[in-house]
Amino acid sequence: MLKGKHIILGVTGSIAAYKSAVLCRLLVSAGAEVKVVMTELAKQFITPLTMATLSKNPILVEFFNPENGEWNSHVKLGEWADLYLIAPATANTMAKMATGVADNLLLTTYLSARCPVAVAPAMDLDMYAHVATQRNMERLKQDGVHIIEPGSGFLASGLVGKGRMAEPQDILDAVVALFDEKKKSLEGKHFLVTAGATIEPIDPVRFISNHSSGKMGYAVAESLAERGAKVTLVSGRTSLATPKGVDMVDVLSAEQMYEACNAVFEQTDGAVMCAAVADYTPQTVADEKLKKGDGDMSIALKRTKDIAASLGEKKGSRVLVGFAMETQNERENAQSKLERKNFDFIVLNSLRTEGAGFRGDTNVVTLIDKCGAEELPLMSKREVAERIVDKIETIL
Ligand code: C5P
Repeated sequence: MLKGKHIILGVTGSIAAYKSAVLCRLLVSAGAEVKVVMTELAKQFITPLTMATLSKNPILVEFFNPENGEWNSHVKLGEWADLYLIAPATANTMAKMATGVADNLLLTTYLSARCPVAVAPAMDLDMYAHVATQRNMERLKQDGVHIIEPGSGFLASGLVGKGRMAEPQDILDAVVALFDEKKKSLEGKHFLVTAGATIEPIDPVRFISNHSSGKMGYAVAESLAERGAKVTLVSGRTSLATPKGVDMVDVLSAEQMYEACNAVFEQTDGAVMCAAVADYTPQTVADEKLKKGDGDMSIALKRTKDIAASLGEKKGSRVLVGFAMETQNERENAQSKLERKNFDFIVLNSLRTEGAGFRGDTNVVTLIDKCGAEELPLMSKREVAERIVDKIETIL
């Protein structure tokens, strides 16, 4: 259910913290990778050893490890996560979240997180009903935080009323529902994605091509489809399986890719141009295999059509995203492509960066738009795809 999802589980100082252990186990069993952030007080209610064992990751409490000075980067943690779940969330922590106080790692991580945030409040009934707590929760809702409602019943104080943290299974169900909601955020939209390498034939046997694996484009197509969009994937040569729920159009040459893209673009809400398209193609294609002679030979090439630029001309209100693979003057070249091809944003990957590039499963990219550049750390191509689609959603 949660396979491959990265979840930060924030635990604050409430007696309900004992339920966080069960919750952590349920999240891990559902396939999520979980990292636990605790407040100092939470450690009094449930031991870091318990949470570390169940989450299979070290517990994070302080800004840095006092033993060796190693920094627990809340920024990296925030970037890593697909969901930040704070359970239990005390009245104190919610009040701080509502006003942007950042005096512990759990809170700085909240301010850094770009992913959805959910809180499962836990407190005594009068604290829960207090106008200040209700006001803070209202504020959090306005800020986009999902509140997983507490239940009614026996409270640690001996009183009976509303304030008990939701049961771990109910929190798990709410988390799954949240991801499903995110998945369907592009229902009714249609996207064109290009991927892979084009093949420019020289004769019936040889061709000009490049090292593109198609992995980045397929990951983008998969991510769009998972969020409910109709996806037309125009693909050059790759050795990848067709992603689930995607309409595949196989092409070989840049010319065929141009035709296929222009045939569909106007019916779409946007396009992501990931393909590595040949800039030149042989002027003529020999009908028979070219025989070798004693001397050197040269092949006359002509320019191919720029598919992205042709779509840029008739873009209208559609979203258009391009890629740039540069080996020098990366930023300037990407910036000029952004303008020339009328992209909303361009994904720059430099061949000079380790972990970035053609064949691998990871990438290091910078997202550049008219307002500026956002450098992303090394992440899987699938994670890069999610970030690209997140940005498309904000533009839409
Ligand atoms: O100009 P350059 O090839 O570096 O531009 C890269 C971007 O333009 C990529 O998004 C690529 O898919 C797209 N492109 C295209 N048609 C071409 C050349 C590049 O769609 N003929």
